[in-house]
Amino acid sequence: MTTATQNLENDHVQILRLIEVMERITKSADPNVEHLELIVRIIREFADGLHHAKEEQLLFPLMVKKGFSNESGPVAVMLHDHAEGRNFVKGMAENISLYKQGEASALKAIYNNTLGYADLLKNHIHKENNVLFRMADKAFTSAEQESLLLDFTKVELSRENQQSKSDYIAMIDKLSGIYFR
Ligand SMILES: [Fe+2]
Ligand SMILES: [Fe+2]
Repeated sequence: MTTATQNLENDHVQILRLIEVMERITKSADPNVEHLELIVRIIREFADGLHHAKEEQLLFPLMVKKGFSNESGPVAVMLHDHAEGRNFVKGMAENISLYKQGEASALKAIYNNTLGYADLLKNHIHKENNVLFRMADKAFTSAEQESLLLDFTKVELSRENQQSKSDYIAMIDKLSGIYFR
């Protein structure tokens, strides 16, 4: 049976596949801008919108309820990483617009933000998989894991005007197929 933390680890697998594509794109002097825009969209709607929402609205509050601090320690570090990630994505999006308007020098800023995001998230996912989620597994009862997973599923299904999780995975599959033929 899947646990709530395994549900999040499965998302991590997809986010890491997207990061591989991101790193590959930065090797190009003339990138496909539509792909860059699609990446920003997948991060905003899937990695941040869906995955980080499950962590911030459900996992972390339950951990705090079980005695973890919100202001210092592992949960606070994770929240800080999420905020830093949003800044990198903002930097990507802003510079993609400039680049589309003909500002060639914006490409370097797109790539700096892309690689900044990639490094941050690889590190972040490593900390969650190896430290934070293992702490949660120890702290939660199996009933708590079960109800958390149920709540995750509700979040996954209740997102209005957004694609479903499998649609985002299909988008990542498509990009991965293009860059890792
Ligand atoms: Fe996270
Ligand atoms: Fe995560």
